[in-house]
Amino acid sequence: MSKTFHITTFGCQMNEHDSEVMAGMLLEKGFEPVKERRDADVAIINTCSVRENADKRFFGTLGQLKRRKKENPDFVVCVCGCMMQQQHVIDTIKAKYPWVDIIFGTHNIHQFPELVDNALNEKKKQIEVWSDGGDIVEGLPAKRLYDCKALVNIMFGCNNFCTYCIVPYTRGRERSRQPEEIIKEVKSLAEDGVKEIMLLGQNVNSYRGDEQTDFARLLYRLNEIEGLERIRFMTSHPKDLSDRLIQAFVDCNKLCKNIHLPVQSGSSRVLKKMNRRYTKEQYLELVAKLKAAVPGITMSTDIIVGFPGETEEDFEETLDLVRKVRFDSAFTFLYSIRKGTPAEKYEDQVPEEVKHERFNRLVDLINTISAEKNGEYAGRVERVLVEGASKTNSKTFSGRTDGFKLVNFEGTKDMVGNLVDVEIIEGKTFSLDGRIVK
Ligand code: 5AD
Ligand code: SF4
Repeated sequence: MSKTFHITTFGCQMNEHDSEVMAGMLLEKGFEPVKERRDADVAIINTCSVRENADKRFFGTLGQLKRRKKENPDFVVCVCGCMMQQQHVIDTIKAKYPWVDIIFGTHNIHQFPELVDNALNEKKKQIEVWSDGGDIVEGLPAKRLYDCKALVNIMFGCNNFCTYCIVPYTRGRERSRQPEEIIKEVKSLAEDGVKEIMLLGQNVNSYRGDEQTDFARLLYRLNEIEGLERIRFMTSHPKDLSDRLIQAFVDCNKLCKNIHLPVQSGSSRVLKKMNRRYTKEQYLELVAKLKAAVPGITMSTDIIVGFPGETEEDFEETLDLVRKVRFDSAFTFLYSIRKGTPAEKYEDQVPEEVKHERFNRLVDLINTISAEKNGEYAGRVERVLVEGASKTNSKTFSGRTDGFKLVNFEGTKDMVGNLVDVEIIEGKTFSLDGRIVK
């Protein structure tokens, strides 16, 4: 009988894709996926160090697994991902959860099948965490979450060292994949029926594949791939967003008119302390340039509330920026300390209640603007890539517009994976309701 596995994924799309690769490697070895963790022979927890409470949730999940491990010592528990790149996490696991079988990091996922084999066959406990990059390993399989869309890494790591952020420490320095490797992968995805790709990197704008190929050039090359319909990317750092990239939005018909451009704060003073290397004015200028060159472009962002030293005036600058840009949506974060980052040592931490009060005001403003912007879609016809049926109602299907708006509509199974025209009836805060255009 074949062995079974289950993966729990925390965090961003990078982690999601790492989990797809791990699943792909296990499937190649003849393992079968199961829906419930309790039915698995091998349980994998892919961790995140960025999202709020990620560590609490992780250790909570580990706690749940203890009983299962006691009942069945053959049950293999693997933990991996960003948290494992932090020594204090490994120390905690060794001290409090010594029954964990495999600990491995973000730089050596390719070794995962070997580690699992050792654990299953030789009952060997293993810790394998590389502290930094190494060469990029190409050709790893991946089990995609969707048939019609795929995540594609183009670069790994980050050199920016924003003072609040743990990523440069957990994902290492920037490394770009060779353009030929990326193009080969995307061509084979397109041949496999994939219509949309999402290019992934902590800072895709600093992608450099070779002498000639910067990020904009890569987009032009990917735009030529037959069968592919849509190209998206995330995340962009505002300081590196070039005019050439803006021009790519104009020239590349497959490049979706949507950009995620994290601003983090609207106060130039706070941005400086965050080491973001742009001012509020520069960000607004960039947005104006994008909007002028690419009419109708939709925009989303990340904002941190309550960075150390943030005053009411600083926060109002953020509200002002949000009102000026009118983001289609935004991810909002309460600042929280990450061990080992420069901001951990800043003394002027903002009290929790002040952070929460500002956070609520910001979310109210963002939601009001989202609802207004989505309301403008009523009556328009949008092309939607259909992703699947709703979990609660088998007649309701959903998909995304070019601008990344989520649309719900009544449809049929055969639409899944296809681009269909949907007339928008109503815009809500987080989604649009529509009906299929016959
Ligand atoms: N506290 C709060 N939010 C953070 N982010 C990164 N580090 C922190 C932190 N220490 C947010 C940033 C980033 C997003 C992925 O997570 O907004 O863009
Ligand atoms: Fe973190 Fe800044 Fe790098 Fe983004 S650009 S991953 S926020 S250090």
